[in-house]
Amino acid sequence: MKETAQSLIGPFKEVVTMEGLPLEGPLKDQSVPIVKEGGILLENGIILEVGPFEDLKKKVNGSISHLPFPAIAVPGFIDCHTHLCFAGSRVSDYAKRVSSMSYLEIAKAGGGILDTVKKTRAASKEELIVSLNKRLEEVISQGITSLEIKSGYGLTLNDEIKQLEAIKEASLKSPLTIISTCLAAHICPPEFSSSKAYLDFLMKKVLPLVKEKNLAKRVDIFVENGAFEVEESIFYLNFAKTLGFEVVVHADQFHPGGSNVAKITKAISADHLEASSEKDLLELKEAGVIPVALPGASIGLGMAFTKGRKILDLGMPLVIASDWNPGSAPMGNLLAEAAIFGAFEKLTISETLAAITSRASHALSLKDCGILKTGYKADFTIFETSDYRDIFYYQGSLKPSATYIKGTQVFSKDKF
Ligand code: NIG
Ligand code: FE
Repeated sequence: MKETAQSLIGPFKEVVTMEGLPLEGPLKDQSVPIVKEGGILLENGIILEVGPFEDLKKKVNGSISHLPFPAIAVPGFIDCHTHLCFAGSRVSDYAKRVSSMSYLEIAKAGGGILDTVKKTRAASKEELIVSLNKRLEEVISQGITSLEIKSGYGLTLNDEIKQLEAIKEASLKSPLTIISTCLAAHICPPEFSSSKAYLDFLMKKVLPLVKEKNLAKRVDIFVENGAFEVEESIFYLNFAKTLGFEVVVHADQFHPGGSNVAKITKAISADHLEASSEKDLLELKEAGVIPVALPGASIGLGMAFTKGRKILDLGMPLVIASDWNPGSAPMGNLLAEAAIFGAFEKLTISETLAAITSRASHALSLKDCGILKTGYKADFTIFETSDYRDIFYYQGSLKPSATYIKGTQVFSKDKF
């Protein structure tokens, strides 16, 4: 199914457009915009119109692709927080976590993030690209059309640049929209005597080079006991902003503090928030920071979820991402994680869907995806079912039949 000048795809039992929904607060399933027996008309990768298939058939000036089974279409999923570029496995950490030690104890003993750092430093850029490409294939088969990838397992000038270049080179060959983020401030590496000395080095050497080489537009930091403290993180992110970077924060995963950093630096998003108080959340709301829940990390660590229901009831724009990484979130299945999170946090199906589509686009400052409407990219995902709610009902076991990015079919399960 290659696009010609114009093409029409359908008929879908339901096209769930997500158009016109509020960006913040609770959503009712009755308000989800659905075109029944719909079609998607597109040209040069952009949506011309979403509407009743029979009406669009009369308008199309090009080819028509008929779906051979009952299907629904939703906007392509957006995963706004991943650590997909890494080498090796952390299965030994997992075995320790489920038997004796906590994530922070393992990190303190020199394992955890630093274990992946050793393996990622030892890998060549080409090796990183090979393993990253495999994961990107998996991402596309999950119906994801845009995603973010962080560095943060290099922690030297050369190794951070190597990781970001690997992400850039893989991105150039991938149909996915990929946003990269510099997370050189993931943890202080053993070569530095203090986190302050390491952040000084990042500000003097690493961030200016990342900027010069245009390898990332965003800078992230892990604010946590054993990683970086509140005051130094604020200083670092404010410096990053003077270089023109957007900033985001790993905030309140185990202890509070990070959301304060996000608030003061006016970060785009504060991600994790498992340990946030209501006051922390309200301050994020006040500062216009987008809260991102990472249920894959709660599942991977066997810890409490971020208070998703509370976040919505406070009138905030809840976003959900996978946090796919080899340590805390090895599952790497956004749909399953979002569905499980939704079941535990009592989110409506529309709230969960918005959190990985229309609301997630804002966490990546993307303005042309996450909704199926005229002028937006024709990024959508098809499932073989007649009821879009099945996507979450089956908690990740109903897999996409096909993924379309800019109107081109980039994945199909049964070749149609
Ligand atoms: O978001 N918490 C810090 N960073 C990642 C974990 C990275 C790792 O354990 O390798 C996270 O969970
Ligand atoms: Fe993370």
